Amino acid sequence: MFKKLADVTRSQQPVFFMGDYLIWNTIPHQSADNMGMSVRSYSSRLDRFISARKGMKRADVRLLLAQKRVQVDGLIATDINQLVGQFSHISVDNEVLQDCVPRYLMMNKPAGVVSATEDVKNKTVLDLLAPDERVGLHIPGRLDFNTTGLILLTNDGHWSRQLSLPERNIAKMYTVTLAQPLDNSYVEAFAAGMYFEYEDITTRPVKLEILSDHIVKVSLVEGRYHQIKRMFGRFQNEVVALHRDAIGPLDLDLSLAPGQCRALTAAEIVSLAN
Ligand code: URA
Repeated sequence: MFKKLADVTRSQQPVFFMGDYLIWNTIPHQSADNMGMSVRSYSSRLDRFISARKGMKRADVRLLLAQKRVQVDGLIATDINQLVGQFSHISVDNEVLQDCVPRYLMMNKPAGVVSATEDVKNKTVLDLLAPDERVGLHIPGRLDFNTTGLILLTNDGHWSRQLSLPERNIAKMYTVTLAQPLDNSYVEAFAAGMYFEYEDITTRPVKLEILSDHIVKVSLVEGRYHQIKRMFGRFQNEVVALHRDAIGPLDLDLSLAPGQCRALTAAEIVSLAN
């Protein structure tokens, strides 16, 4: 039942505009999971799910299964032990019991919006999406209010947990513009790690690539609170602009203007999950 990556990629729909900001392409009933990748976590037994959803006795659910009246992801299901997850498409006869499509977006975050699902004072990244497109999304790996660049949005909690596992060492790449000129002494200090008293931790090695007097590429594998600003703060050097270019193998799509977003391709979803 698993499709090959090539088939899935061909099945994508074209990109189109919705609203002022949104670029969108969807992969209906499609996720990295049905490419045989372990992106999705299976959480519930099929008979339990149907019993709870339809208020039926488990013996009656078994009968439904035996009568071949249940479908999971378009296939007849007969096994009471079959596991289903948040994104399994489940129907009994022609009644759809669950139809939650996994969604994975990248946004070019503009400055001046909060990386949060809601905020009483300021506009959030979710406010940049049409109301019906926001439902259920969360943000793995937030950026500060004035930081710009690559941010992810998804409704797949398992996928986002994979991204934040420390042992995966997923590097985040930033371009940093500084108020004062920098020199090679920074490179050593960032690579050695810095002790943050408040959290009682020493930062893991951070790579710097100096591009000019005031501009540097930064690559780090953790995401401590205001980490980049605090590290340059040790040199009394203020960060005047901070832009995230990439998360692991995923580069910000340069065709996205600030505030625009698009769905990740199947290959991009998988590249981050594995
Ligand atoms: N480090 C910061 O200081 N801010 C960000 O938004 C990201 C990394």
